[in-house]
Amino acid sequence: MTQPDWWYDDLKQVGLDFEDPAEVQTYDDRQRGSAAADRMLLLRLGVNRQAAVADIGCGTGLLACEAARIARSVRAIDVSAQMLSRARARAADIGLANIAFERAGFLTFAASGDLDLIVTKAALHHLPDMWKAVAFTRMRDALKPGGRIYVRDVAFSGRPDDLPLAVESWIGWMTRETGYTREDVACHVREEHSTFAWVITRMIEDAGFRLLEHTHEGVYGTWLAEAIA
Ligand SMILES: C[S@@+](CC[C@H](N)C(=O)[O-])C[C@H]1O[C@@H](n2cnc3c(N)ncnc32)[C@H](O)[C@@H]1O
Repeated sequence: MTQPDWWYDDLKQVGLDFEDPAEVQTYDDRQRGSAAADRMLLLRLGVNRQAAVADIGCGTGLLACEAARIARSVRAIDVSAQMLSRARARAADIGLANIAFERAGFLTFAASGDLDLIVTKAALHHLPDMWKAVAFTRMRDALKPGGRIYVRDVAFSGRPDDLPLAVESWIGWMTRETGYTREDVACHVREEHSTFAWVITRMIEDAGFRLLEHTHEGVYGTWLAEAIA
């Protein structure tokens, strides 16, 4: 797809560099994700043998591979060739044949209109806000009518005045509970594009979704929404 010269280049890395092999090799240890929790989430979202699922910003493929164990087909999409190579190796180890890997981003993946569910975790914040809004319209176009998005990302739930306290308590939690350093988290806040939760909610609704669920714990927001047919 050819885009005009003003279109955002979403293949570039912003903030933490997920094309750095060291960053990718250590990602699972630092992130401490759980395949069992991803599986429970997917089952709760109704994924079954008929479902066509995409994971955008799939990273090392933990959730995408769990999805492929229970769905008909999975598109594992990421801008990072290094992440995709790690995800491909995970799928090969498990012996999954119904998962396709695509080097693309929210603004470049093929919006095919045939997906039942798009999941995106900890990835949307790589786009500036205007382009997040465009990403939601592209996700809508990629879904069947009535298809759903599940979005989980770092988003601040308070007012701008509350930001210093929210960021400092997140840094404290991340350095205690995960393998990230203060500098990693500071880099996220300074250079990536996490925004306020109400901004994400507004973008989802403006793109033509009905909000089904929205929850917030600490700085982590989740949104489940259905494309209005
Ligand atoms: C923090 S990781 C999250 C990976 C995985 N979803 C997880 O929950 O562990 C962010 C991922 O988003 C990818 N990413 C960055 N910009 C992106 C974009 N514009 N479109 C899609 N993925 C992007 C990165 O390459 C990286 O793999």
